[in-house]
Amino acid sequence: MTKLFEPTQVGDIAVKNRIVMAPLTRNRSPGAVPNDLNVEYYRQRATAGLIITEATPITHQGQGYADVPGLYTKEALDGWKRVTDAVHAEGGKIVVQMWHVGRISHNTLQPNGGKPVSSTNRAAKGKTYLVNADGTGSFAETSEPRALETSEIPGIIEDYRKAARAAIDAGFDGVEIHGANGYLLDQFMRDGINDRTDQYGGSIENRTKLTFEVVDAVTKEIGAGRTAIRLSPVTPSNDSYDSNPQALFTHVVEGLAKYDLAYIHIVEGQTGGERDYKQGDNPSFDYKALCQAYEKAGGKADWMVNNGYDRATAIDAVDSGRADLVAFGKPFIANPDLVKRLEKNLPLNAPDQATFYGGGQKGYIDYPLADKVA
Ligand SMILES: Cc1cc2nc3c(=O)[nH]c(=O)nc-3n(C[C@H](O)[C@H](O)[C@H](O)COP(=O)(O)O)c2cc1C
Repeated sequence: MTKLFEPTQVGDIAVKNRIVMAPLTRNRSPGAVPNDLNVEYYRQRATAGLIITEATPITHQGQGYADVPGLYTKEALDGWKRVTDAVHAEGGKIVVQMWHVGRISHNTLQPNGGKPVSSTNRAAKGKTYLVNADGTGSFAETSEPRALETSEIPGIIEDYRKAARAAIDAGFDGVEIHGANGYLLDQFMRDGINDRTDQYGGSIENRTKLTFEVVDAVTKEIGAGRTAIRLSPVTPSNDSYDSNPQALFTHVVEGLAKYDLAYIHIVEGQTGGERDYKQGDNPSFDYKALCQAYEKAGGKADWMVNNGYDRATAIDAVDSGRADLVAFGKPFIANPDLVKRLEKNLPLNAPDQATFYGGGQKGYIDYPLADKVA
């Protein structure tokens, strides 16, 4: 019998199994407000031990894609309250992924059409998703950012703190700080992006300072047992690169060890791609060493892994002790009843890529359940 389907305690959050729904941006919240469709989508997936919401901008400035729901207006928070109520009514647990996209944005999505902010003035070679006037979606080059002034950084930290409080008030069981995939915190951490000369640039200590200050502010506001973070040590997503990811992320997890976080969420390899992805000439990333460094530094949070897991590899990860929790992304898009299917070893529906981003019910709340099996 595997532990994958057994309950456990994740910080302050009691979960009914170790299967987690990974954060999945779906661009189905026009006006940045969660709606009925979004409530139904999350409700359908509430048998996951834990749901991590789609990435959710903490401010208008943190916004970089069309039709993603925010965490910064009363309407959006009221919408999220309906989502959290629906998930709780089904016996599920849900945390919100707190997002600041940094330079992965477009002027048209920014307050007053301004420049997105980052650790640098250099644009990412990357794309964001916009919705055209006729309602169709398309990808567009990200706009040129401006480097945040040192004096603006306390304001960014304050934005995270406020969003965390608002999230708890909206009924979330906790928050996951999005430190992955080349967004703002990653833009500070990686030396392939951060070209600052102030106390937030240069050494690993300086580049990781913002991330630690955010963790500090959020844990003080809502408690460490309801706070988590996602990291993706080697992913090249959104034009991210670091010359020494093993040293960088070892420093990060060692620093996180002093907080009793709910969990640390690691995307292994290229997000949505090769698991053994290498940044530049670096050797394969050693995830076991990363986890050991965390534990050696006294870290006790649950260790969550993601990227390309299936039933067999998830069972192996949990039963071998290599991970406490496994997050599934695409399998949860296509299988609202993923937990049951994994438990009974039933075949999975295949996800339809054409309906990942934007649109309506199709490819969102209409994937069939494996009803007939007890
Ligand atoms: C449609 C889609 C949207 C995604 N949105 C997010 C997101 O909002 N935040 C995030 O951290 N990762 C996001 N990801 C990455 C997934 O969380 C996950 O890391 C990736 O799909 C690999 O896991 P899987 O192999 O189980 O799908 C997204 C992936 C997909 C396919």
